[in-house]
Amino acid sequence: MTSSSPHAPEPLYGGSPTGRRVSVTDLSEAKRRGEKWPMITAYDALTARVFDEAGIPVLLVGDSAAMVVYGYDSTIPVTVDDLLPLTAAVVRGSRRAMVVADLPFASYQSSPAQALETSARFMKEAGAHAVKLEGGARVLPQVELLASSGVPVMAHLGLTPQSVHSFGGYKVQGRGEDGVKLLQDAKALQSAGAFAVVLEVVPADLAASVSSSLEIPTIGIGAGGGTDAQVIVWQDMAGLTPGRTAKFVKKYADVGGVLRDAAQAWAADVVSGAYPAPEHTYE
Ligand code: KIV
Repeated sequence: MTSSSPHAPEPLYGGSPTGRRVSVTDLSEAKRRGEKWPMITAYDALTARVFDEAGIPVLLVGDSAAMVVYGYDSTIPVTVDDLLPLTAAVVRGSRRAMVVADLPFASYQSSPAQALETSARFMKEAGAHAVKLEGGARVLPQVELLASSGVPVMAHLGLTPQSVHSFGGYKVQGRGEDGVKLLQDAKALQSAGAFAVVLEVVPADLAASVSSSLEIPTIGIGAGGGTDAQVIVWQDMAGLTPGRTAKFVKKYADVGGVLRDAAQAWAADVVSGAYPAPEHTYE
C-alpha cells in the first residue's frame, strides 16, 4: 500500500494543485492534522505568481508594503488606496493561494463599521479572500462584526508594527505578565471569530503555549518554531532588504546581488554596443 491514498487530504504546502483557492477550512484542517505551513508577503502580480507556483498556500499583502514598496520607515503612512492596487495585482497573479489583505493603520480602529467598510473595499475592489488587523481586546468588536458578516479575519498580536510608537520601538513583546494578557487576547480573538492569529516577535515558549491553547492556527514571525505556520516578508528571506535585518530573518538567496549584477551586465552591454545584438533586433 502506498502512503498516498486517493482520499488522503492534500497537504497545504507541497500538495498537487486543487483547481481552487485555499480556504479557511483548509487551514483549520491542517491545524487538526498538525501540519505546518508557510505564508509569505507579496505585493505584485509576478512575485505572487512565483510564490503561488512554489506552492505557498497563503499570500499576505502586508502593510509592510509601506517600507518595501513605498520606501517609508514604518507601516504607519501607508493608506487603503496605496494597498488596494497591490492586493488586486496579487490576486490576479495567483491561482491557488488565499490572498490576505492587511488593513492599514487608522482604517479599522475607529469602529466595527469602519473595519467592515474597509474590508469590503479590499474584497470587492481588489478580490481579497481575507483581511488581517492588529490588536487584542480593543479590536474584538471589529473582529466580531467582520466574522459575522462573512469576512475571514486574521488577527495579529505581539509586536504589532502599527503601534511601534506606543511600544517605544521594535521590541520583543509578551515577556512576563504581558504574556498572560497576550494569551487571553488570543483566546478572545478566537472566540470573536478570527480564523488565525499572527504572533510577531514574542518569546518562543509563549508562542508555543498560545499555539497549543488555540484551535485556530498561529502564524509566527520571530516567535520560534512552536507555531502552526510561519510568515516572512519575502524581501527579507530573499536578500533584497538592504542593511541589517532582524534576528529571526534567515537569508535564502541574494536577490539584491543577482539583480545588481544583471543591471550592471546589461548597462555595460549598452555602453559597449553589445546589446542589442542582431537576435534582439527586428527587420
Ligand atoms: O505587514 C506585514 O508584512 C506583516 C507580516 C510581517 C506579519 O504584518
